[in-house]
Amino acid sequence: MKHLLKLLDLTGEEILEILNLADQLKYETKHGIDHPHLKGKCLGMIFEKSSTRTRVSFEVGINQLGGYAVVLAADCSQIGRGEPVQDTARVLSRYVDGIMIRTFGQDEVEALAEYGSVPVINGLTDFCHPCQVLADLMTIRERKGSFAGLKLCFIGDGNNMMNSLIVGGLKVGMAVSVACPEGYRPPREILEFAAGYEQFTLTDSPLEAAKDADVVITDVWTSMGQEEERAKREAAFKGYCIDETLMAAAKPDAMVQHCLPAHRGEEISAEVFEAHADEIFEEAENRLHAQKAVLVKTMGC
Ligand code: CP
Ligand code: NVA
Repeated sequence: MKHLLKLLDLTGEEILEILNLADQLKYETKHGIDHPHLKGKCLGMIFEKSSTRTRVSFEVGINQLGGYAVVLAADCSQIGRGEPVQDTARVLSRYVDGIMIRTFGQDEVEALAEYGSVPVINGLTDFCHPCQVLADLMTIRERKGSFAGLKLCFIGDGNNMMNSLIVGGLKVGMAVSVACPEGYRPPREILEFAAGYEQFTLTDSPLEAAKDADVVITDVWTSMGQEEERAKREAAFKGYCIDETLMAAAKPDAMVQHCLPAHRGEEISAEVFEAHADEIFEEAENRLHAQKAVLVKTMGC
């Protein structure tokens, strides 16, 4: 695998191969078995948006693989002063063995891969969040045993998380149903992809989407970069909270996932969040293991 730019680029089989390697690396990590697959290799990390989990899990992950990371924050580098991504790509490719980037436009990530000569990993764009969804899929399979016959539902904004969950969930064989208000639906590219799957449904009714679901997922109503729309979004998403009423529509043993950070009382109630905290923080831990698998698949020889 040359890059991880978006899950649309991967086959279901490739996603499962990443998850299998992630499971193995998690086992080895828990049992103190060294796995220096990327000994001496350097990962450059570019951040044009804030991060806690992505920043720490990638840095710890590359270290556990025998490599090391260099972090470049946009506001402390020439990227923040407008140096074109095409030039940044060609410069960094001469210093590092792989680049993880968190930015706004998906086109930035695609240009980095096009102009650079090292693997590029998408650590979140406005369009998608593939690393997070690999961790989500890993957690779902860990808890449920397999993807066969499962229904995943996402309640909320047609944002980067919803986009990647639709693609990832359908590619590994789950039924996917999403509920979002009119005006906040996923982009056309995602809906065109999903139209090829009978087991995809889109509705504006959270209760309908959650009916008999095995996995219930949500994310913030206002993503990074949309802060000025907060009030408008709070009004539009009223009624899209994962609370006990909504969970009653799902299967009794349904699990809950949230990429974090969470806003209790907005997209998820404090009660539901705490009742499913184990699953949610396992999901956060699995960022580490899933991303180590991505690093090995892209930067390994
Ligand atoms: N879920 C996630 O990507 O977290 P951070 O924004 O903290 O990296
Ligand atoms: N949709 C959120 C995800 C944060 C991890 C955002 O883009 O801000």
